[in-house]
Amino acid sequence: MITGHGFIATSLDGFIARPDGDIGWLLSRTDPAEDHGYDAFIADKDVILMGRGTFETVRGFTPWPYEKPVVVLSSTLCHRSLPECATADVRILDVTPSEVMHLLEAEGFRRVYVDGGRVIQSFLQAGLIADMVITVVPVLLGQGRRLFGPLPQDVALVHEATQSFPSGLVQSRYRVVR
Ligand SMILES: NC(=O)c1ccc[n+]([C@@H]2O[C@H](COP(=O)([O-])OP(=O)(O)OC[C@H]3O[C@@H](n4cnc5c(N)ncnc54)[C@H](OP(=O)(O)O)[C@@H]3O)[C@@H](O)[C@H]2O)c1
Repeated sequence: MITGHGFIATSLDGFIARPDGDIGWLLSRTDPAEDHGYDAFIADKDVILMGRGTFETVRGFTPWPYEKPVVVLSSTLCHRSLPECATADVRILDVTPSEVMHLLEAEGFRRVYVDGGRVIQSFLQAGLIADMVITVVPVLLGQGRRLFGPLPQDVALVHEATQSFPSGLVQSRYRVVR
C-alpha cells in the first residue's frame, strides 16, 4: 500500500513561507550543526511529491537537492518549459491527490514524501497522509502561506515524539488516525 509522509517546518503561528514564498526566515534559523532528521526521513522514501509553489522555490537551488524522483502537481506548469527537468528526474502532473497516488503505486512506489502547504492540505483532506514530522521555528511571521487549512472533518492525530534543539526548534512526529 502506498502512503504519504510529511516533513515540514512552520513558524510558531503556522506559516511555512511568507506571502511571496520567501523562506529566508527559516534558512537563517536552521543550524547546520544540528541534525533535524531530514536525512533519516528521506532515506526510506522513494519519491518526492510537491506542489507547484514548492517547486518554484526549489527549482532555483544549485545543486539540485534531490537524489530521488520528483513529481510536481500543477495545472499551470508546462513540462517542456522547465530546463531543470532535462537533467533531473522531475515530472509535472495535473492530476488529483488520489490519482497521483494510484499512478505512483502502479509504478511500484510505496512511500511518498509529500511537500508544500496546499498540497499537504489537500492530501490530508483526501486521507492520504500517514504521518507528519512538524518542526516549529521560534518566530511569529504574522502572515504567510499556511501549513494547515480548512478540513471537511477533524483529522485525529497520535503524538509519537517531540524533540527540542538548542537552536529553539521543536520537532514533533504525529501519526494520522485512519
Ligand atoms: N517551511 C517549509 O518547511 C517548507 C516546505 C515546503 C515548501 N515551503 C514553501 O512553501 C511555499 C509553497 O507552499 P504552498 O502551500 O504555497 O504551495 P504548494 O502546496 O507547494 O503548491 C500549491 C500549488 O500546487 C498546485 N497543485 C496541483 N494540485 C494540487 C492539489 N491537489 N492541492 C494543492 N495544490 C495543488 C497548484 O498550482 P497550479 O496553479 O500550478 O495548479 C497550487 O497552487 C514555497 O514558498 C516553499 O518554499 C516551505
